[in-house]
Amino acid sequence: MMTIYALSNSNGLAARVGRAIGDKVVLLEEKEFPDGESYVRVPQRSEGPAILVASLHPPQDRNFVKLLLALEALSAMGPEGLFVVVPYLAYARQDKRFLEGEPISIKVVLKSIEVAGATGLVVVDVHKPSALSEHLSIPFRNAIPSREVAEYFKEKLKNPLVLAPDAGALERARSVAEHLGADYDHLVKERDRVTGEVRAQPKNVDVRGRDVLIVDDIISTGGTVALAASTALKQGASRVFAACTHAVMVKGALDLMLSSGVEEVVATDTLPSPVSRITAAPAISEALKSLFDEVL
Ligand code: R5P
Repeated sequence: MMTIYALSNSNGLAARVGRAIGDKVVLLEEKEFPDGESYVRVPQRSEGPAILVASLHPPQDRNFVKLLLALEALSAMGPEGLFVVVPYLAYARQDKRFLEGEPISIKVVLKSIEVAGATGLVVVDVHKPSALSEHLSIPFRNAIPSREVAEYFKEKLKNPLVLAPDAGALERARSVAEHLGADYDHLVKERDRVTGEVRAQPKNVDVRGRDVLIVDDIISTGGTVALAASTALKQGASRVFAACTHAVMVKGALDLMLSSGVEEVVATDTLPSPVSRITAAPAISEALKSLFDEVL
């Protein structure tokens, strides 16, 4: 028996995880003080280990503070274990000092979660998985919802090719392709030194006549998907679809992608968006179960 707690920004996904692992969900009390500070309260003690589901989607900074406050409050109640599920881990892309004087933001986020009392962490499709072992000393899992993405597209695609927008996204594309029984490839990008124009090209596979599924971790402005889609269509792809795990999607992103020729954009529910039609709950539940097997 466990208790799942959720911040209000994550209660839908927490309910799905609760159904998958058979535990009830308790919503934390939240309010904002007149001066803008956040307040969080745990309304009841956990039965057995506690699981907190709290995504860090926009407004990231406020949600991060609420997550830390909730962890401190839960930890003070002395549960047998305190597992935190952070479906979207904000600041994950600032994983190194690109310029001197910059912070490694992901390090600050992970270490703070640990200091606030988490004894285990589940994240979903984090931008650079090696950052987890680099900055955490508690056990963790990185849940990858590639089976869920593949199932969504199984009946839709003819002669599919899964395309990663860059080499760094290839492993995710490989995993989705494996579940689909399809080929996969990644784009190679090149910037014209005179005009500054970015050109892209699939590394190995001919896209002609194929349904291309672009798969990435995050869609923010939609620019990466739009470039991949227009490249695939110029090179003769029949249709282009796009899937991502985290639809951070800033204003105008969907229009940009649709106008580049993408037929449909879908994402998982690690954060709410109009295209979050695939649930990451099964992948999160499996990751939690495997974490429990390790530590409980
Ligand atoms: C970058 O490395 C990430 O994996 C995504 O490709 C990127 O965040 C997408 O951003 P945008 O939608 O703004 O092109």
